[in-house]
This record gives sequence, C-alpha cells and structure tokens, in this order.
Amino acid sequence: MADGIRFFELNTGAKIPSVGLGTWQSDPGLVGEAVATAIKVGYRHIDCAQIYGNEKEIGSVLKKLFEDGVVKREDLWITSKLWCTDHAPEDVPQALDRTLRDLQLDYIDLYLIHWPVPMRKDSIGFKPENLVQPDIPSTWKAMEALYDSGKARALGVSNFSSKKLADLIEVARVSPAVVQVECHPSWQQTKLREFCKSKGVHLSGYSPLGSPGTTWLKSDVLKNPILVSVAEKLGKTPAQVAIRWGLQMGHSVLPKSTHEGRIKENFDVFDWSIPEDLFAKFSEIEQASMIKGTSFVHQTFGAYRTVEELWDGEI
Ligand code: A2P
Repeated sequence: MADGIRFFELNTGAKIPSVGLGTWQSDPGLVGEAVATAIKVGYRHIDCAQIYGNEKEIGSVLKKLFEDGVVKREDLWITSKLWCTDHAPEDVPQALDRTLRDLQLDYIDLYLIHWPVPMRKDSIGFKPENLVQPDIPSTWKAMEALYDSGKARALGVSNFSSKKLADLIEVARVSPAVVQVECHPSWQQTKLREFCKSKGVHLSGYSPLGSPGTTWLKSDVLKNPILVSVAEKLGKTPAQVAIRWGLQMGHSVLPKSTHEGRIKENFDVFDWSIPEDLFAKFSEIEQASMIKGTSFVHQTFGAYRTVEELWDGEI
C-alpha cells in the first residue's frame, strides 16, 4: 500500500486533497485561526457550509493568507454547501454568490446540496412547519448552471442515501462528483461506498472522529476497543488511526479541530499506514450511525415521516 494518499481523483478529473479541515461547530472567533494554522501545517482542503455561520471569518483569513503569499488560491480546495432554505432553483445562484462573497472567492472547488430536505425560504431553525416537499431534480439543474458558469468546479450532495443518489444520477446532466456523509470506523457506509464505487462518485467522510465534542451526540468512536488497540500497536492516537483508516478505505476525511496540537496530529497521517492484518480488524466493529437528521422528519410536514424514510432504510 502506498503510504501517501494525499489526493483522490474525482470524476471531473480534479484532485481533491484527502484530508480537509472540518469547520462545522467551529465557533466564530476560533475558526479563522484554525484555518490559518491548518494551512500553515499543510492542509489544502477546507470544508465549509453557509449554515455553519463562519464563512465570513474564513474568507478574511483566506484573503490574508493569499496576500501574504502563504498559499495560492489554485492550490486550495474549498467546499461549501447549499442550505435547505435555498433549494428553490431561483435561490440557488444567490446562495452560492453569498457564500463566494463571504469567502471572498471567485469560485469554489465543490458545491454540495447539504441535505435532501428543503425548508421554507428565510425560515430560521428547525421548526417542522418549515419543511417542504423536495424537488431535487430542479435544485440540481440550478446547481448544474453554477457548474457551467465555472463558479462551482464540481458538484455533489451530502446526507443522501444510495437510493437518493441513484435517483439523482438518473436525471443528472452533470454527474455528482462527491457524496459527503458521516463516515468513521463505527459507521463505515458499506452500502453507499459500494454504490459510489460502481458509479464513480467519491465518498467524503464527515465526523471522522465521531464528533466527540458534540454534547447531543452519544459518541464513543474514538473509544472503540478495536480502534484503541490498533492505535496502541502502531504507536498512534485513535484519532490518527481513524483518519488513516478512512484514507486507506478510499475516502477523503474531514476532521475538525480548533486546537493547533490536534490540527497537527490529525494531519500526521501520511508517512505510515495500517498494515493489512490490523486493517482487517475494522470489519469487526459494530456499526451505528450518529447523525440521523431527526429534525428533518415529521408526521405532517415535509416529505419524510420517519428517519427510515429520510435514509431509505439505509441507517
Ligand atoms: P477540538 O476542536 O477542541 O480539537 P469530528 O471531526 O469527528 O467532527 O470531531 C471533532 C471533535 O473532535 C471536536 O470536538 C474536536 O475538538 C475533537 N478532536 C479533534 N481532533 C482530535 C484528536 N486528534 N483527538 C481527540 N479529539 C479531537
């Protein structure tokens, strides 16, 4: 096994850097510093989203890094995501323009539909009455226009089941290049990964450490005994092994941290690998997803009555 795994090639021909800095739940005031630190350490991929509420701060930092010659725009990979309130085709270009303005960029490398769940325009929060019926083909057409314009150099989706991704591929003129989903040793996305392989869609894993700082999630991904024992054998931390596992599975991986030590630790995953015998042990890990999207499910409003419906029975 080649050790590096610095990039994965997408169906657009572009190369996505394999480890990106996650920015979900990175508080304003901290995220800018985290992005600057990450880029100085060598990260070339930053995973953003309009709903994270921190794109402006990231934009200011990127501008300064470009001005100071720390990194060139063309050497960075920036992803952002279309929020649920902007699914209407006429709102899609405005949403990307807002993101580009906030990030102070002319284009982004990857634009994702954040969830297959539209919400009423300008609605705030997760009130069930804001949920409306999805029309993913129409939203996707508007995304394709952004691809044609060059403002989004690749397109994709997030939090889609294999079924929803398959339905989209059926109607897409521009094929999705990436599906970004929760993925870590305790939720390996076996079905979706097989499907992606067969269709040439790249899988990108968020919450690769199981988001241990999120109080409303029960996360013990980093405490899994198999992961911990592999980490001990290799003299690495559980976080590093979880990230390296993702790379060897063929995913890009998006660990989030706002602390310099952990930002560095999470990027120290290229000059070693998990040997085959230890890698095989990951298939024994019990599987359970954490992010279920329960706020997007309602008995009366929206398209999905149950979590099973939202994920088409895949979680
Ligand atoms: P912090 O930002 O204080 O470093 P995920 O990427 O799976 O969403 O996980 C993010 C969470 O994991 C954050 O709470 C982050 O905390 C924490 N974290 C990041 N890197 C590490 C690490 N190497 N070891 C333990 N926890 C980490």
